[in-house]
Amino acid sequence: MRWFAAAASLALLVVAFVVMVRAGVGAAPSDQRDVEAGKALYARNCAPCHGAAGRGDGDSAAGLATRPADFTDGRLMNRLPDGFFVEVIMHGGPAMGLAPTMPPFRGNLNEGQARQIVAFLRRLAQPAFRPGEARPLVTPAHAPVQPIFFNHVIHAGSFQIPCQYCHADARRGVFAGLPSVERCMGCHKIIGAQDNPEIQKIHGYWNRREAIPWIRVFKIPEFTYFAHKPHIRAGVECQTCHGPIDRMPRVGADNLGAWIPNDLLNLVRVRPDARPFTMGWCINCHRQEIAKGAKAPLDCVTCHH
Ligand code: HEC
Ligand code: HEC
Ligand code: HEC
Ligand code: HEC
Ligand code: HEC
Ligand code: HEC
Repeated sequence: MRWFAAAASLALLVVAFVVMVRAGVGAAPSDQRDVEAGKALYARNCAPCHGAAGRGDGDSAAGLATRPADFTDGRLMNRLPDGFFVEVIMHGGPAMGLAPTMPPFRGNLNEGQARQIVAFLRRLAQPAFRPGEARPLVTPAHAPVQPIFFNHVIHAGSFQIPCQYCHADARRGVFAGLPSVERCMGCHKIIGAQDNPEIQKIHGYWNRREAIPWIRVFKIPEFTYFAHKPHIRAGVECQTCHGPIDRMPRVGADNLGAWIPNDLLNLVRVRPDARPFTMGWCINCHRQEIAKGAKAPLDCVTCHH
């Protein structure tokens, strides 16, 4: 019966371990203290709107057109990094383009407390949040202020709307293209229309039959030819050339020395500093692709005709 006793105690150990991990006993004790502190802060400051269990169904939520976020929805929440939450908690919804009915708490809470709340919120998500799942926000140095605060972190990051749903010409043409106002309205006729001023701006353009005057970010000089189609067909990812757009609250050329205001500056050779959207950058990748058997051009006329 010795083997049985041994097996039974082993099984008990395994069960105990699983229970401990589930209960978070395995985590560092200071983490657990943060979660407890965050829980108390949450109950006092957030539960009236976001609900005691974090489902976005607090007593004060009933009067709000845009529902407070449901923190139990891991599919949406787990892709948002801590920095996103802290920013919204301290500076309110508009800091990320969201509705101002999410108030700023910088008057009542410090950043350490905001982080404690986030530590607590992470425990509510189903499926469970895995540390490292959400990579940090990227804030490029040269991101123009756009006519509408359109946030890729929400659309492409949290909601996972495919890049090519909005940039639909990328696989078939020279340009990737920007979505029409009609495409935005497809979702925003209803979403956010009542209490988000950024979304109300879309309705303004729509009612006036105007296009949204987005400011161009990535650009190569007029005398060069670049087409998206062959690159997308060859399986080059958008992020390889544009950086982690899905983690940028505001799109900018993070890897360029400067945002290029217009071609005139290029023409008169008042050049911003080094930037990878240079000929050397194109050619380097083409050389590597050729080594792998692709037919990426190196001859001058293909890129300069
Ligand atoms: C007066 C009601 C109210 C209170 C109080 C409130 N919120 Fe909110 N919160 C909202 C609303 C409404 C939204 C949704 C905004 C939107 O989607 O445009 C929101 C959204 C958020 C978001 C964005 C989530 C996402 O996925 O985009 C975070 C994070 C958040 N709240 C955290 C908190 C925390 C933490 C507290 C307490 C410190 C808190 N909120 C208190 C109403 C509130
Ligand atoms: C497939 C549906 C869909 C499309 C298309 C779409 N959105 Fe959104 N948008 C959403 C969802 C979902 C949210 C999140 C709402 C929330 O949590 O409050 C959102 C949030 C927003 C917000 C508030 C947060 C932020 O990102 O700043 C703005 C502004 C916005 N959208 C602008 C636009 C614009 C401009 C377009 C067109 C270029 C567009 N959206 C296209 C679904 C969509
Ligand atoms: C819901 C629609 C939507 C989705 C999804 C979306 N984008 Fe965008 N994208 C826009 C809008 C609107 C702009 C212009 C405003 C801005 O720069 O933020 C833009 C701008 C850009 C730009 C800069 C264009 C320029 O002016 O040089 C790049 C690059 C880009 N998106 C890449 C991506 C990638 C990569 C993804 C997927 C990870 C993606 N986008 C997903 C709507 C979308
Ligand atoms: C091989 C590098 C490369 C890849 C891959 C790439 N782009 Fe681009 N993209 C560029 C360059 C270069 C420009 C500037 C082109 C110009 O000025 O004519 C640009 C411009 C843009 C623009 C603004 C002008 C336009 O074309 O509408 C958008 C939006 C854009 N890219 C989105 C995307 C999306 C979305 C993907 C993935 C589906 C993608 N790009 C993949 C290099 C790339
Ligand atoms: C894969 C595409 C590609 C090929 C092949 C290519 N170029 Fe370029 N070239 C570019 C791009 C993109 C730029 C603009 C960015 C820059 O100035 O670096 C450029 C810029 C230039 C400039 C302007 C440089 C400056 O500093 O203003 C000259 C001159 C030039 N190319 C000549 C050539 C010659 C000659 C060849 C053939 C030996 C060639 N290119 C092959 C993409 C290419
Ligand atoms: C990350 C890698 C990468 C970068 C960066 C890159 N390319 Fe390419 N390029 C490719 C690949 C891969 C192909 C297609 C190979 C194939 O079709 O087999 C290609 C093909 C092309 C073609 C041929 C199109 C055709 O119709 O045959 C042109 C033109 C071109 N690239 C221009 C550029 C220019 C201009 C730049 C810089 C602004 C650039 N590329 C940057 C990987 C890259």
